[in-house]
Amino acid sequence: MTTVIPDPGLGTFRLQGDDLKAAVTEALDLGYRHIDTARFYDNEAEIGELLAASDVARAELFLTTKVWHENLTSAKFIASVRESLALLKTDYVDLLLIHWPSPEDAVPMEEYISGLLEARKLGLTRHIGVSNFTIRQLRQAIGIAGPGQILTNQIEVHPYLQNQAVVDFCQQQDIVVTGYMPLAVGKVLEDSTLAAIARKHKASIPQVVLAWLKHRGLVAIPSSTRRAHLEANLKPSELTLSEEDLSAIRTLDRNERIANPDFAPEWD
Ligand SMILES: NC(=O)c1ccc[n+]([C@@H]2O[C@H](COP(=O)([O-])OP(=O)(O)OC[C@H]3O[C@@H](n4cnc5c(N)ncnc54)[C@H](OP(=O)(O)O)[C@@H]3O)[C@@H](O)[C@H]2O)c1
Repeated sequence: MTTVIPDPGLGTFRLQGDDLKAAVTEALDLGYRHIDTARFYDNEAEIGELLAASDVARAELFLTTKVWHENLTSAKFIASVRESLALLKTDYVDLLLIHWPSPEDAVPMEEYISGLLEARKLGLTRHIGVSNFTIRQLRQAIGIAGPGQILTNQIEVHPYLQNQAVVDFCQQQDIVVTGYMPLAVGKVLEDSTLAAIARKHKASIPQVVLAWLKHRGLVAIPSSTRRAHLEANLKPSELTLSEEDLSAIRTLDRNERIANPDFAPEWD
């Protein structure tokens, strides 16, 4: 699937201070142009400072932020987006996401999908999308926004949670899947099946995993604070996985979900 979303992006969850500075400055220097943040990550102000200090022009960047589920009502939505923009020191983001669907539908989806459309109409974002949406919720969102409006569904995808049903549905609807926690927050590094595939290709495990996401047509947003890792994560496209590799990775799926707060939807 071709997309306007640069792949890979730089994840920034949990990163602040020196770690965030290292991640963003090294990533930009290496050629990353897609940065993923969220109101909830509490690092938009620092990212704004780092971007303002960098040589990379705003127009070259693809910046994503997200509206937290406590700000989904029409009374709070646009104010949350404007707050993100002020902190990020920019007039617009490239992609605005609903971070999580409203728990128990406390806020009707019509209200916050309308918020996304309004933000785009006001020029506060170029593209709109969702995160952590199930197939049922995606159908509903498409019904509200219309087909072709939702650019991405950002969901957890790694070898232990392959999320095939949601990926299939998104791809049928031309919705790009952005895979978050692609390295299962480091867990994949211990995996003997992935290690064997990596050895065969003279690559690292993260490269194998990111090549697998790419093969499935996903955009990945791994995070790293180390230049060598950031550099390695840019290069999975140099690696072609065989059918045998792909079927070995398929066997690792065990529905192991890392991001599963008590307000999560009923997963597919
Ligand atoms: N929409 C949502 O609800 C949601 C939820 C969670 C996450 N996200 C997004 O997804 C992004 C990625 O998720 P994540 O950061 O939690 O997990 P992740 O990207 O799966 O894993 C990050 C960990 O992997 C290590 N790592 C990265 N590249 C490596 C390499 N080449 N070799 C060895 N280790 C490597 C990093 O350590 P080093 O720093 O030492 O490299 C870090 O500890 C987040 O930052 C966030 O932007 C979105």
